[in-house]
Amino acid sequence: MKIAVAGTGYVGLVTGVCLSELGLNVICVDIDEKKVQTMKNGISPIYEPGLDELMAKNYKCGRLNFTTNYVDAYKDADIVFIGVGTPEREDGSANLDYVFTVCEQISENVQKDCLVVVKSTVPIGTNDKVEEFLKERVKHNVNIEVASNPEFLSQGTAIKDTLYAKRIVIGVESKDAEYKLREVYERFNQPIVVTNRRSAEMIKYASNDFLALKISFINEIANFCEIVGADIEDVTKGMSYDARIGDKFLQAGLGYGGSCFPKDTKALHWLANDNGYEIKTIKATIEVNENQKYKLFRKSKERFGSLKGKKVAVLGLTFKPGTDDLREAPSIPNIRRLLEEKAEIVVYDPVGEDNFKKLFPNEVSYVNTPKEALKDADLVFIFTEWEEIKQISLATYKELMKTPVIFDGRNCYKVQDAAESGIDYYSIGRKE
Ligand code: UGA
Repeated sequence: MKIAVAGTGYVGLVTGVCLSELGLNVICVDIDEKKVQTMKNGISPIYEPGLDELMAKNYKCGRLNFTTNYVDAYKDADIVFIGVGTPEREDGSANLDYVFTVCEQISENVQKDCLVVVKSTVPIGTNDKVEEFLKERVKHNVNIEVASNPEFLSQGTAIKDTLYAKRIVIGVESKDAEYKLREVYERFNQPIVVTNRRSAEMIKYASNDFLALKISFINEIANFCEIVGADIEDVTKGMSYDARIGDKFLQAGLGYGGSCFPKDTKALHWLANDNGYEIKTIKATIEVNENQKYKLFRKSKERFGSLKGKKVAVLGLTFKPGTDDLREAPSIPNIRRLLEEKAEIVVYDPVGEDNFKKLFPNEVSYVNTPKEALKDADLVFIFTEWEEIKQISLATYKELMKTPVIFDGRNCYKVQDAAESGIDYYSIGRKE
């Protein structure tokens, strides 16, 4: 079986690499010549633990290849997986331009029967449109079918999430398509959920939006805990013993970021409105998240009045630990606000600094260790709970900062420990 994968971002590349790891012949297609060369040299264009090694191993043994030549890649492919981005448009809807560009290339070049599998997150009904588009344009006399196969990997644990996924969802309209995808996925030894295309598309949005809803819910409970004197960490612990609730995605903080939850909540909200329906819980999820981002910034304003000339240390920039991705990271809008306040900002992140420099080349100072950031600071914001940051002792803040005032957006420390260390400590959903 010959497999082509369109797009070498998180979804495309990880899919290609994992399929080859399980013995399939895969060619990954990307339009960027430089990127393709880098991948051939065994270097992944994205920061993802374990990816480089698997990529290099499978490239070396010839099961995995990279190319810009989509004509050759698609002409005799049995299956083409589409894993290109579906970014957010200004109105919140999903931009499908990359998906349809790939479809145009597929339709012009396939010379044998082919199953096109959409892995990108796309609005409900897109797979139908993709099939129509392909069938209308296909040049050679071949049969093209489309299947939906959403991806559930998380950045930072993408390889494990793919090789040991909790489920594989296949949305098909024919037995033929189902058999072909079963042949691919049976080697993963994971539960396979087979449904129609629209349900598969909906499973992806409903899963992501439900997780985002959980986060917004717990953030609201956290905010209310502060008002009534409860402690959100104890509250979630107490809730989590109920298996119906569980202990995942109940970490209160500055809200969800990343390339998926913000985009997928808005896309579903937009799609519902476009269909004359309002999903009120999703609308609320988005509003709560927007407000939550600035929670500690507001507290810092209350505490200091003016932040002008204050030396602000920032620990953690990425939207979560384990990635260099800054998309929708709460650090960015908060740092914008701090800059408007004319604060002096020093930032530290173990892997996100290079990407951050592209956004703020001169506006903030960069250092190589958390200690350098904390030196003589008036206040510190913690935006990402990197293990390295959580390991900083409270004594270190006390020793290095001018005034030890911590605004901890990820509840890295115990309130009581901070109080005992004589630190002015602000966090989420706990007594101050
Ligand atoms: C998310 C989903 O978890 C994946 O299942 C999905 O496949 C992926 O989106 C996608 O659609 O591609 P990801 O964006 O990599 O994965 O990151 P998560 O680990 O889900 O975290 C998202 C955001 O929620 C982060 O900003 C994180 O800090 C925040 N979060 C997460 C919380 O604030 N509290 C929590 O309890 C959990």
